[in-house]
Amino acid sequence: MSADDFIVTPWHVEGDIDYDKLIKKFGTEKISSELNERIKKITGEDHFMLRRGIFFSHREMNRILDDYEKGNKFFLYTGRGPSGHTHIGHLVPWVFAKWLQEKFDVNMYFQLTDDEKFYSKPNLTLEETRKFAYENALDLIALGFKPDKTKIIINTRNIQTLYPIAAQVAKKINFSNTKATFGFTNETNIGMIFYTSLQSAPCFIEDKPVLIPLGVDQDPHFRLTRDIAPKIGKPKPALIHNIMIPALEGPGGKMSASDENGTVYTTDAPNVVKKKINKYAFSGGQPDLEQHRKLGGNPDIDVSYQYLRIFFEPDDNKLKSIYDDYKSGKLLSGELKAILIEKMNEFLAVHQEKREKAKEQIEEFLFENK
Ligand code: TRP
Repeated sequence: MSADDFIVTPWHVEGDIDYDKLIKKFGTEKISSELNERIKKITGEDHFMLRRGIFFSHREMNRILDDYEKGNKFFLYTGRGPSGHTHIGHLVPWVFAKWLQEKFDVNMYFQLTDDEKFYSKPNLTLEETRKFAYENALDLIALGFKPDKTKIIINTRNIQTLYPIAAQVAKKINFSNTKATFGFTNETNIGMIFYTSLQSAPCFIEDKPVLIPLGVDQDPHFRLTRDIAPKIGKPKPALIHNIMIPALEGPGGKMSASDENGTVYTTDAPNVVKKKINKYAFSGGQPDLEQHRKLGGNPDIDVSYQYLRIFFEPDDNKLKSIYDDYKSGKLLSGELKAILIEKMNEFLAVHQEKREKAKEQIEEFLFENK
């Protein structure tokens, strides 16, 4: 563990993250109230994920907006490492990306890094990560992206397109840069060492500036991309970062797709969701009913409350009354969990139906090599 008591890298997140410290450490900018106002003005909407600081940090968002206001469009890019089924936490940047796509009417690329997860997970075969890439693609499509403006890149399938761009990038990043950024050692496989150049490639797939909504753990890759962009005559990617979504079992870690119990998958049946939340969701409540009524619970560390805040309850008034009731002891942990279970299952019922339909739409979304 670092001196700061938390670690955030693309392959390892640990500890209780202090986001202000992380901003300093990574050298990003906090999303100011002015920036939020600006986005609100341009889009005509006050998105709850911005209002609540779920998206909390950025790099050069103002440049993207300056250009946009001059009539120069950007494009969106985000992605997912297909190490398992999609979990609820992954949907945060995707849902936000969809909102940005609608508001700015821009193209979006979604990268599925089946190679990356093969390199980084000792127990996964390339066939497995490829299979999960298709499974994860269904979740993206289910969110309602437009097929004419949204293309899904699967690394092993689209390598022909990615490789010439990745080669430009790879030539400008040296081993000591990646080593310092990711903590690689002599035992790290060389796929991992090259990998940043593949995650960088979609940044330069169109001749326009790119905006990337992403979990803050992915920032280190794009720090390298931003450093080398001018060296290959390209604009630096702009970024907008969301906080890490806590695992069910507690704050201080991200939801990991490989931890069955700590994760609600988009494919989970209602009774499974109910069981997982009731059994595993970390509670900010008191050990017994009497104490809870007397002392109240702590919503700030309660994972069920956090999921409502981050994703499932966009209505501020409703969220506030849940917060107040839980804090005062009026609302019990079991009751709070029941609220979340209902919201999640409502969402998943619709999502799973759309996910089925997505199986017929997937061809339209897959990026075709030229
Ligand atoms: N490396 C990311 C992950 O493990 C996947 C990814 C690829 C990505 N390209 C991206 C994430 C762009 C955010 C933005 O999830």
